[in-house]
Amino acid sequence: MNNFLFQNPTKLIFGKGQIARLAKEIPTDKKILLTFGGGSVKQNGVYDQVKDALKNHNCMEFWGIEPNPTVETLRKAIALGKENQIDFLVAVGGGSVSDGTKLISVAIWNENDPWDIVTNPKKIGKSVPMATVLTLPATGSEMNKNSVISNTATAEKIPFAAVYPTFSILDPETTFSLPKFQVAVGIADTLLHVMEQYLTTTGQSPLMDRWAEGILQTLVEITPKIQNNQHDYEQMSNFMLCATMALNGFISMGVSSDWATHRIAHEITALHNTTHGQSLALIFSSLMRVMAHQKGAKIVQYGERVWNITTGSTDEKIEKTIAKTDEFFRSLGLATKLSELNIGQDSIDKIVARFKANGTKLGENENITFDVVKQILELAK
Ligand code: NZQ
Ligand code: ZN
Repeated sequence: MNNFLFQNPTKLIFGKGQIARLAKEIPTDKKILLTFGGGSVKQNGVYDQVKDALKNHNCMEFWGIEPNPTVETLRKAIALGKENQIDFLVAVGGGSVSDGTKLISVAIWNENDPWDIVTNPKKIGKSVPMATVLTLPATGSEMNKNSVISNTATAEKIPFAAVYPTFSILDPETTFSLPKFQVAVGIADTLLHVMEQYLTTTGQSPLMDRWAEGILQTLVEITPKIQNNQHDYEQMSNFMLCATMALNGFISMGVSSDWATHRIAHEITALHNTTHGQSLALIFSSLMRVMAHQKGAKIVQYGERVWNITTGSTDEKIEKTIAKTDEFFRSLGLATKLSELNIGQDSIDKIVARFKANGTKLGENENITFDVVKQILELAK
């Protein structure tokens, strides 16, 4: 087991009717900025619940944080926050609203341009406390300090370590209104968060392996039930908790992580604005195939424990496991090849050139260099 430091300060408030707790969790002397996406919360009643809970608080609103939140939009919110001396933020929506609000949080008391903060998080100083009311299980943003921000002008999408939410409220009923596609990409994203921290090498920690496999097994078990009935409170609760537990640090203690699929997928999204979970599904199988020489033993363990693949040679088990994973993405209605989304050679060349220019080395052994990225993308065509 590797050395590690674990600390997660976010309070998790989970269950039916819990949005009302906003009133108790935020002192009434705070000047609150509520942040929102494009309006889904007005249709599903979440906005009314938030307003009702905070009826005795001093609140302003900022609307329009888009999926793959952009620094261009967030500069406006930051200006509003500075102007009004906001000292508490509540993100109401999915991971994009949460991530965007994390940038607002670290930028309000900061004189640097927000993009400078994203690209150089050492510039982060004092942050404004932020909380989330989550409506989409996927990113884990509700219980981690990460934020992923896009820059439209430069066609970049960059993850950075920002700030943990003080608390997050997760009411599974808020997910009943999600479009099927968002549920599908949320499941794919959750699966990949587990994989990036699990599919490296065997034997580092049997406990972490089993926690990770527990999330994977749960996802595989609940997916058809959710597809059958998205208003099943128990199944949506399980999905929501899987998504949070997949990326709040609990499964990564003392083990290596990879994150190459995410880093390559961010480049695809930056160029094509494809939804995050969809971009991941385009890359992951090819990455497994190209890296099977290194990840083979862990792929076999994953295949045995999650998909019950127990017969055949090692190579056959690896191939069956990758095929099963692909089949799972397809059962979610997601594309698994770049050509299905008309992503062509020009994009592959651009992405490879970016990794080459940055000298980026991805993967648990830092051996996924630009030429390996090229192999992965060529195989994903
Ligand atoms: O904008 P509104 O109108 O609210 O609609 C949203 C949006 O169109 C809609 N939606 C959300 N909750 C809903 C709902 N529609 C109906 N009912 C509900 N209950 O769903 C659409 C997508 O929302 P978005 O927030 O973009 O999705 P998600 O939560 O998947 O977030 C994706 C972003 O998070 C980043 C991704 O890269 C992407 O930018 N990630 C953040 C991570 C983190 N902070 O740790 C890790 C992830 O790997 C990921 O990179
Ligand atoms: Zn992700």
